[in-house]
Amino acid sequence: MKNIAVLTSGGDAPGMNAAIRAVVRKGNKEGFNVYGISHGFLGLIRGDFKKLEVRDVGDIIHRGGTILYSARCEEFKEVDVQKEAVKNLEEHDIDTVIVIGGDGSFRGALALESHGIKTIGIPATIDNDIPFTEYTIGFDTSLNTILEAIDRIRDTATSHERTFIVEVMGRESGALALYSSLASGAEVSLVPEVAEDMPKVIEKVEESIKLGKKHSIVIVAEGAMSADECSKMITEALNIEVRTSVLGHIQRGGKPTARDRIYASRLGSTAIDLILEDKHHVALIVNKGKIEMKDFKKVLQGNKILDTSILKMIDELSI
Ligand code: F6P
Repeated sequence: MKNIAVLTSGGDAPGMNAAIRAVVRKGNKEGFNVYGISHGFLGLIRGDFKKLEVRDVGDIIHRGGTILYSARCEEFKEVDVQKEAVKNLEEHDIDTVIVIGGDGSFRGALALESHGIKTIGIPATIDNDIPFTEYTIGFDTSLNTILEAIDRIRDTATSHERTFIVEVMGRESGALALYSSLASGAEVSLVPEVAEDMPKVIEKVEESIKLGKKHSIVIVAEGAMSADECSKMITEALNIEVRTSVLGHIQRGGKPTARDRIYASRLGSTAIDLILEDKHHVALIVNKGKIEMKDFKKVLQGNKILDTSILKMIDELSI
């Protein structure tokens, strides 16, 4: 019987459990022993492996987080550390690892490939910032969590006729900020991919007040600017009452939406299909709704393009 392993790495994302479930169940069905590695690449170094049976992944499809735990593992960049991990895999006779995570996790997978371990990547990050794939597991849940929070903030913003600055996650990616702005009807969205034009932001808020709008909502991605910084500039320029809200890690947890569970199940199951076809050194991607594969190197060298035309749309619709 062939032995394979699965791990989750980087920031957790709702839907990771559904992907683990799919890997274990489909893997078992195809006659593989599936080992779960705890705490991502850290568990790989420590030899923290556990064989997962079909029932071990019962009752998890609807749960956020990851039953395998996750970690960011800087030391995995060192070749000696990688060799330690490979030794642990060889001791368990495992030649293939399915890596569920973001671009940092895919870099770890590529390192394993350089030591002869076969790897397949499943894109999972709330940031939706992996090149070539239109979707990453966790994005939809996170977006809906943000929307729920902004809808609540909007009630208070209207009641007090205030301007609110809401800071969302995304150090290098503005996807959550951009699409939550469009979906919540925010006035302005600030994303790291586009240099901010504060005079224009201030003008937009001022214009909203003049138009008699009951509130203004500005959504900033953490990588663009902090909510406090933005609030300070608007307060100083307009002498108005501004409130801030930093949503933080509530954006990462919670029950995965149907969309995340469906993609996670499809991606997890397809990863096993690829192993059966002896394909590796690839990440699974979503292209026009279809699951395809792309060479890891190409994915990591690619550029994720944010559709910044949406910024104009946000501006035009919030009048
Ligand atoms: O990659 C997902 C993400 O949530 C980013 O949006 C955010 O910048 C980062 O992780 C936060 O990481 P941590 O939880 O390690 O502080």
